[in-house]
Amino acid sequence: MQKKILITGGAGFIGSHVVRLFVNKYPDYHVFNLDKLTYAGNLENLRDIENKPNYSFIKADIQDGELMLKLFTLHQFDAVIHLAAESHVDRSIANPLEFVLTNVVGTVNLLNAAKYIWNDKYEGKRFYHVSTDEVYGSLGPTGYFTEETPYDPHSPYSASKASSDHFVRAYHDTYGLPTVISNCSNNYGSYQFPEKLIPLFINNIRYNKPLPVYGKGENVRDWLWVEDHARAIDIIFHKAANGSTYNIGGHNEWKNIDLIKVLCKIMDKKLGRPEGTSEKLITFVKDRAGHDLRYAIDSSKLQRELGWEPSVTFEEGLEKTVDWYLANQEWLDHVTSGDYQKYYEEQYIHR
Ligand code: NAD
Ligand code: DAU
Repeated sequence: MQKKILITGGAGFIGSHVVRLFVNKYPDYHVFNLDKLTYAGNLENLRDIENKPNYSFIKADIQDGELMLKLFTLHQFDAVIHLAAESHVDRSIANPLEFVLTNVVGTVNLLNAAKYIWNDKYEGKRFYHVSTDEVYGSLGPTGYFTEETPYDPHSPYSASKASSDHFVRAYHDTYGLPTVISNCSNNYGSYQFPEKLIPLFINNIRYNKPLPVYGKGENVRDWLWVEDHARAIDIIFHKAANGSTYNIGGHNEWKNIDLIKVLCKIMDKKLGRPEGTSEKLITFVKDRAGHDLRYAIDSSKLQRELGWEPSVTFEEGLEKTVDWYLANQEWLDHVTSGDYQKYYEEQYIHR
């Protein structure tokens, strides 16, 4: 019988890459993509696979617990890969409650529904929760987050993700639910909503708009190409032991300001502008409240135990990413129409 895999948040940035990988690589799985289609969810991200026979889309809100029970009962999913979330730190500072409702309550709704239909018969079942390195808090100039680093979230976003991770572990420890968690560093690549640093700055450079660097641009992030994250999820989903956790990261730390300067150089080259043109757009603005200084992931457990490693260097990944956004300006224009302008003004014009 065909295995039924529920992927939540599959119309978003990372979710769309996971859906594409699973639909193309596993014709013997039926992939159900459940997504509310918030501002961040876009079915255009999946045009190339939407007519495949092993793919279905369900528009639904994970905040609706009764609906989750109905859908799980109807479809009898064998496994869940849960990515649906409110994912942007700045939005969580402006509206924390939505993050609690989707990231915490929504996750518990899915855990309840899985527990209900699997009914203690957990053979061949899996609940995979996709989480973030931000649950570990912030590092000083040295050291790395390992799977043993104590949780210390600072933003409403990371607090909601930390809480959801705790619930997932609680359902494993209390009810024996076959769960797995991974915590990944910053992703970049195609189909990322241009509220996040890299696509936002690519779009602003395109229109000669200021590049709003928070604080002094000294914060450090560990960047991973999104398709390498999707590959890691595939490997962990199939090979990890129940109850386990894996960190995912590229050993690729960049100070924001240094990354932005590299991006400016690539954009000048690609747009045929004299070198130095885009850098002139850099504008230092008020820092993000509670801004974590540094994230850096130790992913050696995943490399050692399950044999994953990143497939591209940052230079290759960033160039591919810029090429993708420039070749898909229509996609960028679609997602930056409508409510996007209002969001942009609220975040940046009055900063
Ligand atoms: P995203 O914001 O691009 O996509 C989130 C998706 O979830 C959207 O399609 C949205 O419509 C959907 N969604 C939101 N609320 C929903 C609800 N109530 N019900 C159903 N669907 C809903 O996010 P992303 O960057 O692709 O992140 C995906 C997951 O990976 C998140 O759980 C995030 O915490 C985690 N993560 C992200 C990164 C990163 O760098 N982007 C890194 C590590 C972990
Ligand atoms: O670490 C994983 C996390 O990475 C994920 O869990 C989150 O879902 C994802 O959004 C991302 O969080 P960040 O806050 O690190 O990503 P963001 O792209 O918003 O910001 C990256 C860095 O750039 C951060 O230090 C803030 C800074 N920044 C961001 C924006 C949007 C700016 O300086 N200016 C900006 O306009």
